[in-house]
Amino acid sequence: MSATDLPIEAIVDPRTFTDPAALHGLLAKIRTSDPLPFIAAPNYAPFWLVSRHSDLMAIERDAKQFINEPRQALLPLSYEAKMREAAGGKDTKDFMRNLILMDGTEHRAYREITQSYFTPKGLEPLLKDIQALAREFIGRMDAAGGEIDFADVAMAFPLRVVMSMLGVPTEDEPMMLRLTQATLSSQDPEFQSEGGARGAMIEMYTYFQNIIERRRREPDGSLASVIANARIDGELLPDRDVFGYFNIIATAGHDTTSYALTGGTLALLQNPEQLAKLRADPGLMPIAVEEILRWTTPVKHFCRTAVEDCDIAGKQVKAGDLLLMSYPSASFDEAIYEDPFAFRLDRRPNRHLAFGTGPHVCLGQYLARFELSSFFRELLDRVEHIELAGEPRFVEGSFVGGVKHLPLAYRMR
Ligand code: HEM
Repeated sequence: MSATDLPIEAIVDPRTFTDPAALHGLLAKIRTSDPLPFIAAPNYAPFWLVSRHSDLMAIERDAKQFINEPRQALLPLSYEAKMREAAGGKDTKDFMRNLILMDGTEHRAYREITQSYFTPKGLEPLLKDIQALAREFIGRMDAAGGEIDFADVAMAFPLRVVMSMLGVPTEDEPMMLRLTQATLSSQDPEFQSEGGARGAMIEMYTYFQNIIERRRREPDGSLASVIANARIDGELLPDRDVFGYFNIIATAGHDTTSYALTGGTLALLQNPEQLAKLRADPGLMPIAVEEILRWTTPVKHFCRTAVEDCDIAGKQVKAGDLLLMSYPSASFDEAIYEDPFAFRLDRRPNRHLAFGTGPHVCLGQYLARFELSSFFRELLDRVEHIELAGEPRFVEGSFVGGVKHLPLAYRMR
């Protein structure tokens, strides 16, 4: 089936995301025909699909009218029911809450706890270590002997960065990788765990509980310690919220960055003139990273719920209606970008929405940018020649995803 034949309901189908050409063909058709369609797909809550850059910006910036409660992402109703059942009929937020599900003053107070840690200045003490890790992980290609599934390197590096911030030792990382993939990309059969997403969540809860208790006994300057010892109105946060914080950083903080690394590498290989340009002018790196973020847009959607009736794009949205923000659509909106389907490392301006916008804008955006630039700098420095050695494969999932297997052949310097 060609992209233009896909029905709009295909936007909720995880398989659509394994074929970027089909996905973008469908989104372009939606943007130019009916940019805010109301979609009622079987087994999903009905929703408005926000496809235009301008509508998405306006909605995310008006956080009083468009709130994050009660749904962060659109997953099948049968899956939501299973989660509720596993939680003993309770709402899953009784078990774990995180920044993404909070609104208003509560969201501000919780975000404040780590906000300064994640600013460019707050991250400064970590930069040397991150560069050293980029060197170490690209260095692993030396030992692999010229052929590799590059996803192994691209997954391991951001995982190490974020796990070291949370106090998880290296030997526990494979387990954490399994648990975060089972919770975040759980639509992809390859990443599903035996106990399902909720089983993985419970395992993670128990694991982090130990770290939290240790950091409360022995506080240090780490991010783990900041969160474990945070107080609001003089009180330590409830366990479920401390866990929610660890969990959101563990999950949001690595797959996303990994998919920008794999997808960025693939785009460089498919556009050799752009790769040559970057090699010739490493000063291009900061804006090249923005184009890689736009091109890969690893987070495919988040949701908002309308508080009052309102008009958007000529449609009447009712209080309580669900809106699905399509970040890949906004990042390729022809009303904003000249020639959006050209991968251009010197694109400027480049106001992509890969990190969202408004009060929930990605907390880890400066960290992610720094990881990307360190990694690509190291790759270009150390690898003399690189080429595709097989078919890249994409994650089956409508929430977070990108290239999950990238077979490469290469020669190191
Ligand atoms: C939120 C994307 C890396 C932590 C978000 C949002 C997006 C996003 C789209 C929602 C924004 C909105 O609702 O407007 C990405 C991408 C990344 C990345 C594409 C990498 C390329 C990271 C990293 C961390 C992180 C490295 C932390 C270590 C968070 C957190 C939130 C968030 C905690 C919730 C913020 C809130 O609700 O206030 N991210 N992210 N992300 N991200 Fe990231």
